[in-house]
Amino acid sequence: MWRPPQRIKWPVLPGAWPSAETAAASRLFSPLQVGPMRLEQRTWIPAMVPWRATDDGFVTQDVLDWYGRFAEGRPGAIVIEATGIRDVPSGPLLRIGDDRFIPGLRDLVETVRRASGGQTRLLIQLIDFLAIKRRPEPGKFFERFLRVTDAHREKLGLTDEAAIRAKLAAMPDVELDAVLDERDLESLRRGARERVTDTHLPHIADLPRAVPDLFAKAAARAKTAGFDGVELHYAHAYTMASFLSARNSRTDGYGGARENRVKLPLEVYAKVRAAVGHDYTVGCRFLSDDCIEGGNSVEDAAWFGAEFAKAGMDFLSLSRGGKFEDAKQPGIGESAYPYTGPSGYECMPQYISDEQGPFGRNVLPADTIRKAVRAAGCTTPVVVVGGMHGFEQAEAVLAADQGDIIGFARQAMADPDFFLKVKLGRGGEVRVCEFTNYCEALDQKHAVVTCKLWDRIDVKIDASLRKTPDGKRRTTAPAWVR
Ligand SMILES: Cc1cc2nc3c(=O)[nH]c(=O)nc-3n(C[C@H](O)[C@H](O)[C@H](O)COP(=O)(O)O)c2cc1C
Repeated sequence: MWRPPQRIKWPVLPGAWPSAETAAASRLFSPLQVGPMRLEQRTWIPAMVPWRATDDGFVTQDVLDWYGRFAEGRPGAIVIEATGIRDVPSGPLLRIGDDRFIPGLRDLVETVRRASGGQTRLLIQLIDFLAIKRRPEPGKFFERFLRVTDAHREKLGLTDEAAIRAKLAAMPDVELDAVLDERDLESLRRGARERVTDTHLPHIADLPRAVPDLFAKAAARAKTAGFDGVELHYAHAYTMASFLSARNSRTDGYGGARENRVKLPLEVYAKVRAAVGHDYTVGCRFLSDDCIEGGNSVEDAAWFGAEFAKAGMDFLSLSRGGKFEDAKQPGIGESAYPYTGPSGYECMPQYISDEQGPFGRNVLPADTIRKAVRAAGCTTPVVVVGGMHGFEQAEAVLAADQGDIIGFARQAMADPDFFLKVKLGRGGEVRVCEFTNYCEALDQKHAVVTCKLWDRIDVKIDASLRKTPDGKRRTTAPAWVR
C-alpha cells in the first residue's frame, strides 16, 4: 500500500478508558434514533468485506461466525459488507441480486440478533460495480484483446490485422506510447476497466435506466430477509461514486454539473424508498473527498450531503478516497485495487503516516458536511469513520457536534468485544488495533481477512477451531474470557 513520504510512525495511544458510570453517562453509549431505527448506542461497524462468501455469493458458516462474533460486542449497528445487487458471478462476495439469496441472508440476520441479544441493529451495504479485467499477459493482449483500428493501421503503415498484432507484440514498451491510445495503454498495463463515461457501450449508456431498479429490488430483498435497513454504496471506486465524481463528464444529463451528477444517486434512492416504504431505514455511504486530482472536494460532498438529506435519507456515512485512478499498477494476472494509491491511504490510513497522522482524518470533513446538512434544515445523523479507536477520541467528536455516530472498522476487527469492554468499564482489556493494515493486505489479495493480533492464537493447540484454507490462521477472534 502507498504511504505518505514523510513516513512518520504514529504510536497508537487510545487514551484513558472510562469507568462503567462514565460510559453510561457518555454520548457514545447513549441511544440515537436513525430514521425509523433506534440505535442503543452511537457505535457502528462500517462495511468490511472479509472474503468468506461462496464463489456464487451465498452466506457460509464462516460469514455467520464472522458477523456473529462482531455482534457479541453489541455495537449500535453493524453494516454487512458490500453485497452485489446484480445476479452475475462476482467471486466470494455476498450477493443479493436474486430471491435465492434471501434464506442465507435471513440466517445472517438471525445470527446477529441472537448473538447481540437483540441490541445491535443490522444493515446491509448494497453495491453496484462495473467490469474490471486482470492485467493481461502482453502477448495475449495483442493477440486477442486489442481491437485493431484505422489509427493503428495508419500509425504503423500496415493493413493486415495479423501483421499489426505481431508488430505491436514485438514493439518495445516505450514505442507503444506513440501507437496505442490512452485506454489501450491502460488495458495493457493495468487491465481493462469500464467507466461510467463509456457511453458508447449500450449497457453503460443504459445505467440510469437499469440501476435504480436493481437497487430497489435488492433493498426489498434485504427487508424481506429481516435487515433493519440498507446502506446504498455511493463511495470509493464503484458505479454510484463514479456518477457523483467531478470526473463524470457524461453528456446525457447524468454528468457534468453537480446537479446532474447527483441525479442518478437521487433516482436510485427514490426507487429504493418506493420499494421499502417510509418505515424502513435507508441511508448511503459516500466520500467526504475523492482525494484524487479532478475528483470531488469536501465542498462537493457537503452539497451532495445536503441533497441526500433533503431527499429523506435516514443517515449519511462518510468515507474518503479509495479510487482506481491513482491505484498501483497490478502485476500481470492481477486486478487493480482501488486502495493502493494515495486515495486508498485516505480510506484506510495506516500508522506510517504524515504530520496529520492516521487517526480521525475524516473528522473535519465530516464536520463540514454535517454543517451543510444542518444548514439545509435536516437533522440526518452523520457517521464518522477513519482511524477511530479510543473512547475519548470518539466522545470528543460527539461533544463537538462533528458527527452523530462513530464508526470503528479495523478496531472492531482487532477486538469485536471493544464496545462491551469499554461500556462495562473494562477498556483496559481492549485489544487495540495497531493500524498496520495487515487485514487490508489480505483483502487486497482477496484472501480471507483476519487480524494479526489474534489469528495465530491457539491455532496449533485447538483442533476444533475454524481455520483459513491453509490451516494457519483462525477465522474469528478468540472469546473474551471474563
Ligand atoms: C478488510 C476491509 C474491507 C473493507 N470493505 C469495505 C466495504 O465492503 N465497503 C465499504 O464501504 N468500506 C469497506 N472498507 C472500509 C471501512 O469500512 C472503513 O471505512 C475503513 O477501514 C476506515 O475505517 P477504520 O479506520 O475504522 O478501519 C473495508 C476496510 C477493510 C479494512
